[in-house]
Amino acid sequence: MSKNLVIYFSAGGHTKLKAIQLAEAIEADIFEIEPVKKYTKADLLWMNPLSRSFREVATRKSKRPEIVDKELDLTGYNKIFLGFPIWGWAAPSIVNSFLEKHDFSGKTIVVFATSGGTMKLDGSVKSLIPSLSETTIVKEGRVLNGEWTKEELADWAKDL
Ligand SMILES: Cc1cc2nc3c(=O)[nH]c(=O)nc-3n(C[C@H](O)[C@H](O)[C@H](O)COP(=O)(O)O)c2cc1C
Repeated sequence: MSKNLVIYFSAGGHTKLKAIQLAEAIEADIFEIEPVKKYTKADLLWMNPLSRSFREVATRKSKRPEIVDKELDLTGYNKIFLGFPIWGWAAPSIVNSFLEKHDFSGKTIVVFATSGGTMKLDGSVKSLIPSLSETTIVKEGRVLNGEWTKEELADWAKDL
């Protein structure tokens, strides 16, 4: 039987909440991408050029923040939902760190996100491509800002 999986990164908790709600709505397993060094409030001051997150956006094509090494067996998961906060119209580079550590060949990844207002996911999807094999299908899901009921989430997810 095919299973669903929700994978997420969340620095401040917003995406985590959506990931948990989505996993509950579609009865999926859930996996968190965890940074070795947790993000502090100061790290997340994204308008400040000296903050960690600003620097990670600026260096996202060359640098890979370290993630906690956790076991993940992707066998049997056909559809994988991948969520994160939009950082500078793209995915945080820690998501690239994660994708480069695992083999998503032949899998379908549906991207979702939270944001401070950006509703477009095309830049985020584009930023993930260099970290994936040619046989991985990446689909633009949606930005899940605002309130979503379980039924709305399940309804949205089933057609992807
Ligand atoms: C470094 C950084 C860059 C961001 N860039 C954007 C952006 O380009 N567009 C946007 O709408 N929000 C942006 N945000 C806001 C986050 O996407 C938003 O607060 C998100 O919901 C945080 O999710 P989290 O609590 O799961 O970390 C940025 C936040 C950070 C820290």
